[in-house]
Amino acid sequence: MQDVYQWAYLDPHNARLLDKDFIVSTILLGNNRRLKRALLAEVGPGSTALQAAHVYGGLIPELARHIGHAGRLDVIDVVPLQAELCRQKLADLPQAEVFLADAAEFSGRQYDLVSCFFLLHELPDMTKHAVVDNLLSCLAEGGRAVFIDYHRPVNWHPLRPVMRMIYNLFEPFAASMWKNDICTFACDPGLYDWEKRTYFGGIYQKVVVTRRRP
Ligand SMILES: C[S@@+](CC[C@H](N)C(=O)[O-])C[C@H]1O[C@@H](n2cnc3c(N)ncnc32)[C@H](O)[C@@H]1O
Repeated sequence: MQDVYQWAYLDPHNARLLDKDFIVSTILLGNNRRLKRALLAEVGPGSTALQAAHVYGGLIPELARHIGHAGRLDVIDVVPLQAELCRQKLADLPQAEVFLADAAEFSGRQYDLVSCFFLLHELPDMTKHAVVDNLLSCLAEGGRAVFIDYHRPVNWHPLRPVMRMIYNLFEPFAASMWKNDICTFACDPGLYDWEKRTYFGGIYQKVVVTRRRP
């Protein structure tokens, strides 16, 4: 985090500057709303949910509103500044609470839904494994995890070389999202059903993981 993403998540000035919907929309090449809708489509009002890290822009308050007062949203982030920014956004939403915690280690309650929005590609592969395993262990019976992240674009995609360049410059751990399906980061993938859908010519993916009932 310190070596690669200091400028984006640890620098207070940049963090406040970047924490805007239009910035997220630019980074996601105009797909922000579409991917946000893809996440919300998996979340039932009244459910208990865990959001695995702070996300810039309005996604997290929208998630909390969608869940509503009958449900509960726990958000974790490993960086105090990010946890604080998130807390400020959620101040008028009592169904939501923010904890300072590492997604690879956090163990709270069991959740109906675990959301991991563009976190995996920022982690070294060993940490991707630890985070996927830990998040899946937070699922209640019949619960679902939703991973939304980068994916390998189709071969003819005109933005393929651009994405490669962005990864080389800013996202050194993202290239492995092109080579590995998210299920390969779980130590026991057979315990779950995995359903993948891709967006924007394969640049993005949503993977919905359902814990099988024993
Ligand atoms: C969700 S990711 C990237 C999201 C996306 N780029 C955006 O628009 O914000 C960024 C967040 O993940 C947090 N983070 C990184 N590693 C983490 C970990 N192991 N556990 C919890 N949070 C983590 C960072 O502190 C940062 O707030």
